[in-house]
Amino acid sequence: MTAVITIHTSKPGRTGLTALICLALLTACTPTGSTGTTASTNIGAPIIGTNEPPPTASNTEVPPPYALSFEPMPVSAPPQLVAEAAAITQRFVGTLLPTLQLAIASGGPVHAIEVCAVQAPQIAQQLSEDTGWNVRRVSLKTRNSSAATPDAWEVMALNMFDERQRGGQAGADINVAEIVGREFRYMQAQPAAPLCLTCHGNDIAPDVRSVLEQRYPDDMATGYFNGQIRGAITLRKDI
Ligand code: HEC
Repeated sequence: MTAVITIHTSKPGRTGLTALICLALLTACTPTGSTGTTASTNIGAPIIGTNEPPPTASNTEVPPPYALSFEPMPVSAPPQLVAEAAAITQRFVGTLLPTLQLAIASGGPVHAIEVCAVQAPQIAQQLSEDTGWNVRRVSLKTRNSSAATPDAWEVMALNMFDERQRGGQAGADINVAEIVGREFRYMQAQPAAPLCLTCHGNDIAPDVRSVLEQRYPDDMATGYFNGQIRGAITLRKDI
C-alpha cells in the first residue's frame, strides 16, 4: 500500500495547526478491519523546513535569499502512532458501516436511526477502552451537539478537510496527524456516501425526518451531498 505525506505549514503568528501532516491512506475508509493498515511501513521521512520560495508572485515583500524561517519547526507525527490511529479509525468504520447497512436492510432507516444513535457512541467507547486512545466523532454541523461538537483544533482540521474535498481530494484519503502539546491527535474525514444521505441528505423521507426532528431538535446534519465531508473520527492519546 502506498502512502503520501504532505506538510502544510501555517503562516507565522497563527496558532493551532502549525504542521498538518496529511497522510493519504488509500484504504482508510474501507471496512476491512484492523489488519488492513500497513501505513507505518511506507511512510517516508517528511520534508521539513524547505527553502522554497513563496507560492505566489504577488508578494510585495522580497524574501531573503537564504532560509530565515520564522515558523516553528514542524514536529513530524510518529509513523507508528499514525498507523495505530489509522487502524483504529478503520475498525470504527469497519464496525459501524456493516451495522448500519444491516439495520437499514432489516428494519428500514427509521429503525437504523436508533442503531446509529446507540451503537456509534458504543463502538467509540469500546474502541477507547480496548486501545487506550480517546475516540469520538465530530462535525461542523452536528446532529448530536452534546457528543460531537469539535474543539478548536478539530474545527481547524474540519475546515481544512472541507477545503481539500472541494479541491477534489476523496474524503477517504483526507486525514491529519499532529502532535499538539503533550498529545498526539489524529482525524480521519468521513465523507457522505449515498447510504448516508438517507439520514443526512436533502431528500429525507418524511418518516425519517420526523423521527430525527423529534430526537434531535437542533439537528444541523442534513443537506449533504454525496462525497461531502460529513464529519470525522477524531482520536487523541497522551504521549
Ligand atoms: C439511519 C440514519 C443514518 C444514516 C444512514 C447515517 N447516519 Fe450519521 N447519524 C445519524 C444519527 C441519528 C446520528 C446522531 C448519533 C448520536 O446521537 O450520537 C448521526 C451522527 C453522525 C455523525 C456524528 C456527528 C454528529 O453530527 O452528531 C457522523 C460523523 C455521521 N453521522 C456520519 C455518517 C456517515 C458518514 C454516514 C454514512 C456512512 C451516516 N452518518 C449514515 C443517522 C444516520
